[in-house]
Amino acid sequence: MYRDPVLSLQPLAGVPVAMRPLRVGMIGIGTVGSGTFRVLARNQAEIAGRAGRGIEVVMVAARNLPRAAGIVGEGVPLTDDPMHVATHPDIDVLVEVAGGTGPARDWVLAAIAHGKHVVTANKALLAEHGAEIFTAARQHGVAVAYEGAVAVSIPIVKALREGLTANRIEWVAGIINGTTNFILSKMRDEGLDFAAALAEAQALGYAEADPAFDIEGIDAAHKLTLLAANAFGTPVRFADVQVEGITTLQGADVACAEQLGFRIKLLGIARRREEGVELRVQPALVPATHLMAHVNGSMNAVMVKGDASGVTMYYGAGAGSEQTASAVIADLVDVARLDGTHAAQRVPHLGFHAHAMSDLKALPRAAVCTSHYLRVPVHSAGQIEAVAALLAGHRVPVQQMVLAAERPEAGPQVLVLTEPAPQAAIDLAVHALQASAAVAGAVTTLRVEALAG
Ligand code: HSE
Repeated sequence: MYRDPVLSLQPLAGVPVAMRPLRVGMIGIGTVGSGTFRVLARNQAEIAGRAGRGIEVVMVAARNLPRAAGIVGEGVPLTDDPMHVATHPDIDVLVEVAGGTGPARDWVLAAIAHGKHVVTANKALLAEHGAEIFTAARQHGVAVAYEGAVAVSIPIVKALREGLTANRIEWVAGIINGTTNFILSKMRDEGLDFAAALAEAQALGYAEADPAFDIEGIDAAHKLTLLAANAFGTPVRFADVQVEGITTLQGADVACAEQLGFRIKLLGIARRREEGVELRVQPALVPATHLMAHVNGSMNAVMVKGDASGVTMYYGAGAGSEQTASAVIADLVDVARLDGTHAAQRVPHLGFHAHAMSDLKALPRAAVCTSHYLRVPVHSAGQIEAVAALLAGHRVPVQQMVLAAERPEAGPQVLVLTEPAPQAAIDLAVHALQASAAVAGAVTTLRVEALAG
């Protein structure tokens, strides 16, 4: 590990010529922790050159000490007591990359109470306990940095908090879970079944310790919570996100979406409206010609619509060891640069200063208005007329209605693309379709997102 105790700088008036290294205590040396350790060691000179001082891991807490010793080698003290690291007087900054919410909350709050900065890639922790953690950090004048928590290698927190500060952000939308995007790509491109694709994502280290967080949309919702807070200056409110994963998505819909010129992606969307904000994670159809439709494998992409900037789009790895390390170390460099400055001079934790945060109301599902895709199984092809009449009767405007070309063994399927319609109207129409004698099975509905400027 890099151990340059004093980095010499060219003297500038009023600037110290040497600073001691930033001393890092790490909790967790798994996928993200080991990547962080490796990249810090490999790129130590460049990183120190950017930070203005060395960044040195001086202590690591791990559950499996022999395994940890194999990663960090000799010379870095190891402990199986995370709280020892979080509160140790020789630590300037705690890097929490163990994951989970209960104990991680205690470690992070203890580190903050001991005046340490915190860098974490733990989106679940911040989505659920962010309000408490950021308040404590403000009280103790320390930084909590979390670039690695959202769309790992993409510097989207920095883009929202710094690059786009001139804008009133209108919406943020993205593919923000690598595992599910990997699964959807494998199912579409290689015809792999869901379980096999998930197992591959797990083997590659993309999935959460409990992959239900990925496939049920919870991980994306954690990340969306942080994106929305930074975009709109709202508190982190995970409980307000409408969450739907990909576990009930059927291969038939992937094929039918293609027939209509769309691809299905798990999207996280935060949209500011007059009445409040929409916060939702769900599988949705995006036009096959849209850049977002071509974000494949474990890659992520985030689009931000600002009133001045227009639409901007960010693309990069959404999961992986060194990919996440890239963001964790960028946060460490920020901390190395800001250490010793007054808290009021720093970039606020959520982009806005505490007194300027707004408490925009989260809108309910029924208030969301988008186009929809419906797949309606019918007894015979002629019953497409009955489906059209029923939708018209419920004032659901139809853009396109065709018979599915795929899956004849499942019987005829009517595919419908609606014009934008309130969710409440769609729900009523689907209820009526389900009760109709013309309909032969469960009606599937998915949102259609144009993601246009
Ligand atoms: N399980 C997460 C994902 C890891 O697949 O996106 C990165 O946050």
